[in-house]
Amino acid sequence: MLSYRHAFHAGNHADVLKHAIVIQMLRYLGQKDKPYWYIDTHAGAGVYSLTEGFATKTAEYETGIARLWDRGDAPPLITDYIDEVKALNPDDDMRFYPGSPYLAYRVMREQDRMRLYELHSTEIDVLRHNFRDAGRRTMIYEGDGFDGIKAILPPPPRRALVLIDPSYEDKRDYARTLTCVEECLKRFSTGTYAVWYPIVTRPESQRFAEQLKAIQPKGWLHASLIVKAPPKDGFGLYGSGMFILNPPYTLAAELKSALPFLVDTLGEDSNASFKLEHRAD
Ligand SMILES: C[S@@+](CC[C@H](N)C(=O)[O-])C[C@H]1O[C@@H](n2cnc3c(N)ncnc32)[C@H](O)[C@@H]1O
Repeated sequence: MLSYRHAFHAGNHADVLKHAIVIQMLRYLGQKDKPYWYIDTHAGAGVYSLTEGFATKTAEYETGIARLWDRGDAPPLITDYIDEVKALNPDDDMRFYPGSPYLAYRVMREQDRMRLYELHSTEIDVLRHNFRDAGRRTMIYEGDGFDGIKAILPPPPRRALVLIDPSYEDKRDYARTLTCVEECLKRFSTGTYAVWYPIVTRPESQRFAEQLKAIQPKGWLHASLIVKAPPKDGFGLYGSGMFILNPPYTLAAELKSALPFLVDTLGEDSNASFKLEHRAD
């Protein structure tokens, strides 16, 4: 049974890193007229309330998006992200947080398409409700995104960003993600694949980036953000990473200014740090 609900974590430091990068990669794909697909294997609910329900219990957004809300001095990649979150809150009152499907939907153009997978029986209903007016550009599948994606690759336009964003509460998600990336690359080797992962003390997390590098030794980018020291009891998220296969060539330069800014604004103690590494094709 699935217990994870993303609303508890909406807008936290990990969402900031993930969503700022996703927006930038879609902007890059949008520079050419040719259509692209956005595929989200683990879509979540699409939009989250920050003033009611789960998010208010943990208030993780207070050390995430809330710290960026009034920062007029952010680097371009972060400013773009803040502007997109603000677009969902037109009165400048921080009430809703956009998930990856919503952000993608806003950035996509008329010719682009979105394919979303969600397994949780309640989240899928909320997702469908949030996208009830999205029209034929969007297709939502109730089911396992790791399996489902195989049937739709390669996408007809041969251009796509795939976000693989499990919760990793089930530690088998690490191995399933690695297998999924390998299988996707066999079907569609030129796609851009973005894998989000949590930085926690468990060994699966610590070795994950190296395992992803081994899948494709060239043509990747790895960005991570640690916001505090590892918790003494060994439990809990203290950072996160995005590993991107076939990244836009512009992304590393954009992250070079964005990541130090995120360390300054989202860092919670002197252990806050970032990593940025990439290997071109
Ligand atoms: C981290 S959340 C997704 C957040 C979302 N991508 C975003 O950035 O806004 C992970 C989601 O995956 C769902 N999920 C878990 N296992 C899944 C699977 N095998 N296939 C599809 N969805 C799954 C969970 O119910 C949860 O809503």
